[in-house]
Amino acid sequence: MIYKNDRDDSLYSYLKVLYVHLPAVTLKGKIMSVAKRDLEDNRKVTTHRLMEMKQRGEKISMLTAYDYSMAALIDQAGMDVILVGDSASNVMAGNTTTLPITLDQMIYHGKSVMKATKRALVVVDLPFGTYQGNSKEALASAIRVMRETHADCIKLEGGSEIKESVERILCAGIPIMGHLGLTPQSINKFGTYTVRAREEAEAEKLIKDAHLLEEIGCFALVLEKIPAALAARVASELTIPVIGIGAGNGVDGQVLVMHDMLGINQGFSPRFLRRYANLAEDITRAVQAYIEDVKTLDFPNEKEQY
Ligand code: KIV
Repeated sequence: MIYKNDRDDSLYSYLKVLYVHLPAVTLKGKIMSVAKRDLEDNRKVTTHRLMEMKQRGEKISMLTAYDYSMAALIDQAGMDVILVGDSASNVMAGNTTTLPITLDQMIYHGKSVMKATKRALVVVDLPFGTYQGNSKEALASAIRVMRETHADCIKLEGGSEIKESVERILCAGIPIMGHLGLTPQSINKFGTYTVRAREEAEAEKLIKDAHLLEEIGCFALVLEKIPAALAARVASELTIPVIGIGAGNGVDGQVLVMHDMLGINQGFSPRFLRRYANLAEDITRAVQAYIEDVKTLDFPNEKEQY
């Protein structure tokens, strides 16, 4: 990967002209392969384009967002997929699980993100209890999300158990991203957030479910917190893109929760999480400086008033 600040101009022009065909560059002592992507491609990301990315071996970047301002920054930074995850229940609403968030609340977040997003594909999670009951209810939930948020597609957790719902929603022309492995809406069944599918029986079921979701027409699949070797096997067997979170690097892309990777959420440190910023510290420092300036009459100064 070439980072904007690391590239030199001549290399950048060369990459643009050749549509990026460098085999590798050395960055911080590591050999990192250069992604085959047009660095200035501002075309809208579609489900079809994600499939093309898998076919040419370009990894897919995906990150959650729940509001207008953050979605605008993430989209402008060049993210391929923005997930309006039901993790909003945790990081936005302060719940301990994803279960309490409602369809109305997901639609509120979806609408905000859609207003800001121009390029990324936007996926909205169907929340717990809005699609497991029966396929009619599932379709009604999916239609509300698509009609009211204008999102590109939805994500559902589960395999064979939700087959009918998936089929019915797909029949209505709504693209679906599947989600297997540690599916947080089933946390009460699992009883723990530990790695899933370490045992053979669960791994076999996951492989079967992944094939089923591809066969019935899902355009992509998220695999959460499963052994890297299992995830790599699923990604190599499926033709649709497989996006991992805590599933190693043998998959077609990665997804993280924005609050975790930006270091806003301090109390969550699973092994798979890489922090790219420490915003909790930055925000605390900024807020404390503001408090200090207010208390000492340093703010506002003469130039900051009318
Ligand atoms: O809701 C969410 O953020 C998710 C990701 C963890 C994949 O589903």
